[in-house]
Amino acid sequence: NSSEAINTDIVTLPRFILESQQQFKQARGNLTLLLNALQFAFKFISQTIRKAELVNLINLHNSSITINATGDVQKKLDIISDEIFLNAMKSCGVVKILVSEEQEDLIVFQGNNINDQTYAVCCDPIDGSSNLDAGVAVGTIVSIFKIDPNVKDLKQNVLRSGNDMVAACYAMYGASTHLFLTFGQGVDGFTLDNNLGEFILTQPNLRIPQQRSIYSINEGNTFNWDPKISKFIDLLKNPQSEMNNNCVPYSARYIGSMVADVHRTFLYGGLFSYPCDKKNKNGKLRLLYEAFPMAFLVEQAGGKAVNDFGERIMDLKPKHIHDKSSIWLGSTEEINKFLTYIA
Ligand code: AHG
Ligand code: MN
Ligand code: MN
Ligand code: MN
Repeated sequence: NSSEAINTDIVTLPRFILESQQQFKQARGNLTLLLNALQFAFKFISQTIRKAELVNLINLHNSSITINATGDVQKKLDIISDEIFLNAMKSCGVVKILVSEEQEDLIVFQGNNINDQTYAVCCDPIDGSSNLDAGVAVGTIVSIFKIDPNVKDLKQNVLRSGNDMVAACYAMYGASTHLFLTFGQGVDGFTLDNNLGEFILTQPNLRIPQQRSIYSINEGNTFNWDPKISKFIDLLKNPQSEMNNNCVPYSARYIGSMVADVHRTFLYGGLFSYPCDKKNKNGKLRLLYEAFPMAFLVEQAGGKAVNDFGERIMDLKPKHIHDKSSIWLGSTEEINKFLTYIA
């Protein structure tokens, strides 16, 4: 029986969306259109990154340097991926507002009917771009809000609490391309099958481990941290401290792509942090398209996400579209250790 060897009834992302849409009576198919455009953008960016070196898209000898609104140097792939993402959102017809790390201001798409343009989308087209030239895993991070047609000032549709997100996801372009997605009812993980060109459901209802002795932080910033933070990290490394139930020091793992560090944290557990420091007074990671979507996903998988002061990331509200925040996220027990420590 040949059907024993392979699964002939796989759940593709379009099938998954259709089946979960049928559960919501008010669904009008707009979310399906948005998800279709998102997955196209992820596939396109994935392919572009994978052939970058062969078509001279990596930045080793780039002459012209441009800087984005948050002070980052833009690489060629940052700009191309931003364009890919923008065009996908523009053409799907259901997005009214787009915020991108690589665009100083928000972008408003003109449509025929505001009731069709249901969504505001915020994105980090390439997360981890400092790793691009070395072929290390990078990703795309997205948060999704619903437009309120009664709100006159369009910007207010994204300057809201993280609790207002209706969906969030990220794609990670690693050895395989992965997609982790939430609509606020748990997290589901998909893997891109390059031959089929489809994202396949591989990790339904993903749960983050409750505990794991791994910390993920740029420790090179120690001398710029508040001494309280350095002391907390020292406690994790000390096998005799009250933080170490097993009397083994924590392992350090830091890739420098938030997407990849959070992805590992999802699967193995542990904690990931980018705290405030002397250089980054409000942290480095941006609320709308880095901290919010990751916090939503982590909480939906049973973990926690807070800032340096122990406030829930999801409860924060940006004043400007590129506002930043400190962040601590990961396994519930690990984040609880931090919360107990700062209390
Ligand atoms: P981006 O590449 O989108 O600008 O994001 C970079 C972020 C994030 O991916 C990562 O966690 C962090 O910057 C790494 O910063 P350091 O190099 O300062 O550790
Ligand atoms: Mn950047
Ligand atoms: Mn980023
Ligand atoms: Mn980026």
